[in-house]
Amino acid sequence: MAFFRLEPYDPCPPAQTGALDASTAEDQVVSLDIQSKYLFVDEYVVPGTPDVQNCGGYVDKVIQYRNPELLAYLSSQRVSAEAFSNSPFPILQTRSPQLDLILFALIERLRKGRPDGRVSLLDHGCTVAEHYDLLDAMLQASSGAARTAPNTLNYCGLDKSSMLLSIARMLHSKVQEEHFRLVRAEGSAFEFRDQEFDLSLSVGVINHVAQPLEALKKLLAATRVACVLAIWVTLEGDGFWAFNHSGVPNYFFSRDDLARLRDSRPGMRAFTAGFTPEMEASQKRSYVGIGEEKTSALGSYHLVFSTLDELPFEAQEAPL
Ligand SMILES: C[S@@+](CC[C@H](N)C(=O)[O-])C[C@H]1O[C@@H](n2cnc3c(N)ncnc32)[C@H](O)[C@@H]1O
Repeated sequence: MAFFRLEPYDPCPPAQTGALDASTAEDQVVSLDIQSKYLFVDEYVVPGTPDVQNCGGYVDKVIQYRNPELLAYLSSQRVSAEAFSNSPFPILQTRSPQLDLILFALIERLRKGRPDGRVSLLDHGCTVAEHYDLLDAMLQASSGAARTAPNTLNYCGLDKSSMLLSIARMLHSKVQEEHFRLVRAEGSAFEFRDQEFDLSLSVGVINHVAQPLEALKKLLAATRVACVLAIWVTLEGDGFWAFNHSGVPNYFFSRDDLARLRDSRPGMRAFTAGFTPEMEASQKRSYVGIGEEKTSALGSYHLVFSTLDELPFEAQEAPL
């Protein structure tokens, strides 16, 4: 039997010195090469494209959200942050479900009093439409299965990946197309009508698109009531571009950026339902070449831009 001793190796040493702190990704050349291989098997290279990796990770989420035991658990509780944090299902303690709880509260508020009881939702960077499945479980659990995502939502998912959208359609093939629309587009190159959707959602994707500021402006313009975001920001004065560990460009919004965007949409206020400093995030040192001092100014907000005076979830006015 063969034994191997593995040693950790840091492929991105500039993080120790903050080599790229003083400049932005716009004026630096960074070459990253990432390969996925089975080790100890004869040079077997696994397709390592983001589409394939996202597909695996997010189909897995759909499977977990469709678990009948998860529905039974939620049905035995009030759908709430406490039920999520005390649940035997670790996935309910992760980031996305926290945002789905906010969406669920907004959907419950809006559907009442509507003749068709439907609420429209734009999911920006929808991957395989996994949010639809957790919302479905929450709607069913809170209504004795009278309400479901198919009879409550007018869903529109947008993603740049045809492959992921095909899987999204396959996984939701029983939902009528008029209530489950998929749009293939780069995340800043979409055109929707002014206030076409009651609600919108973007989980980090707004940081990765070609034109983040323009994209968020368009997302807010397309939203009537509330735009729910996980968004990465810098608490320093200016926004800047960096690269994450997968070589994906990432724009960190400044608080001034966010204030200007809020003001671009009359009647909208910005609320925060939590801030995670990057130093406390589960994935350490995600950004190539960014040193500790600069990293200490980074973090992610659960941010909601809304026209509502009273929110149906806990949040504070964002300090923008
Ligand atoms: C890591 S997933 C995060 C979003 C996921 N639905 C969630 O809520 O956690 C990133 C998704 O955004 C999509 N995406 C990445 N960059 C994009 C862009 N520039 N335009 C549109 N979609 C993009 C990817 O195809 C992928 O489905």
